[in-house]
Amino acid sequence: MNHKKITRNGTKILVVDDSPPTLEVIQRNLEAAGYEVFTAPGVEEAIAFLEQNSVGLVITDIKMPKISGLKLLKYVKENVKGTEIMIITGYPSIKGAVEAVKDGAENYLVKPFTDEELLSAVSRMLEKQANRHAVEVKPLPVSHNIIGSSPGMQHVYRLIEKASATDVNVLVLGESGTGKELVARAIHYSSKTVSGPFVTVNCTAIPDSLLESELFGHVKGAFTGAEASRAGFFQIANGGTLFLDEIGDASLSMQGKLLRAIQNKEIFMVGSSRVQKIDARIIVATNTNLKRLVKKGLFREDLYFRLNIVEISLPPLRERGEDILMLVQFFMEKLSRDMNRPVPQFSDKVLKIFKNYRWQGNVRELENLIQRLVVLADGDFIDVVDLPEHMRFSINWRKGLNRPLAEVEAEHIANVLIRLKGNKTRAARILGIDRKTLREKIRRAKLPTENE
Ligand SMILES: Nc1ncnc2c1ncn2[C@@H]1O[C@H](COP(=O)(O)OP(=O)(O)OP(=O)(O)O)[C@@H](O)[C@H]1O
Ligand SMILES: [Mg+2]
Repeated sequence: MNHKKITRNGTKILVVDDSPPTLEVIQRNLEAAGYEVFTAPGVEEAIAFLEQNSVGLVITDIKMPKISGLKLLKYVKENVKGTEIMIITGYPSIKGAVEAVKDGAENYLVKPFTDEELLSAVSRMLEKQANRHAVEVKPLPVSHNIIGSSPGMQHVYRLIEKASATDVNVLVLGESGTGKELVARAIHYSSKTVSGPFVTVNCTAIPDSLLESELFGHVKGAFTGAEASRAGFFQIANGGTLFLDEIGDASLSMQGKLLRAIQNKEIFMVGSSRVQKIDARIIVATNTNLKRLVKKGLFREDLYFRLNIVEISLPPLRERGEDILMLVQFFMEKLSRDMNRPVPQFSDKVLKIFKNYRWQGNVRELENLIQRLVVLADGDFIDVVDLPEHMRFSINWRKGLNRPLAEVEAEHIANVLIRLKGNKTRAARILGIDRKTLREKIRRAKLPTENE
């Protein structure tokens, strides 16, 4: 059988095994096939080598007397850019464990293996490396400038259409950064009010003393300092859309004034007794649970019902499946263009982390991250090493009851450190150990920490 020559000549491979005869056999075979081969008798030596040299592939035995090959796997995944790793195991039963740790069957080879099996596995891995990277480029499904085609977003698009066909009030709900303002704009721009203004009011920002004049405007001389009459948000939005953002933060006094205006569809400017008709669609948004606020008496129920004619609930990004990768592609292309930089490519591992990450800040967090990666990534290829620490950590931990205590401990320490932004003094206090012990544990578990 002929093995496809990819980047074979000159492709560097590090082989790690505690048995000198095995090392020798593998080395001889790979060299005969044209690879440049380095060997290491253990994980420590391998890591020392990788700190100084770069290779395309690491092949490691799992079961070694000092440190398990799984540690090397973890090290490579989290610290080495652009290197594949393949595991050799003499115990088929370990397969399960390996699978739990790792992504995909082609990453290990079961002993005993023939020369052919070794070479074809190696060539498969290197081939995978040679053509991985790119986020698949396909036309992005865009609806109203909103990216995403997950079922959750399809439902959102249907509601946007329905709301746009009428002029009813709309309540947009969703965690921070899920795109609530984007939805509000989408409704405005697909409504018949499209030629009218879109006015955003941040309900948190208006002090009670200025409320009425900000919302409804004032006439000249209405109060000291009112030297000219001035329109309020309701007048400015006339014929268009008034977007009341962070409505959950509106004070009770603001809620009262809004209720009256929305209910009667008319307002008075401060200092005037002339009633003015208002003609603006109201869209409100919040990331708080409005119903709960109503229950607690912090949000008026009558206002809640006035606003909540159509409710659009945006799903959190972590529930949108493939949308995540589409958004990555979208922001990558957009931001690279804006910054005049080449569009970087991502390793499969990074994409996998993206898919499983929590995205607490939702699309905004993703956008900021891509921006950071486009700016900071040296070269045009982004790997796990380039990700912020808290994301690197969300991979590679075996969950379940087959985990050694040391690993669970290391994970807990890592989580505490992340939460405390690396503050070791506070972390030690929470963990109930002294700083020295903590430092020792961090070192032993090889946890990446900043400002070490
Ligand atoms: N589906 C999407 N497609 C493209 N861009 C999006 C999408 N969702 C959000 N964005 C972008 O993400 C950022 C955050 O969105 P937006 O401001 O609408 O969120 P929000 O829900 O109003 O957040 P907050 O509650 O923090 O105000 C914006 O830059 C927006 O353009
Ligand atoms: Mg917003």
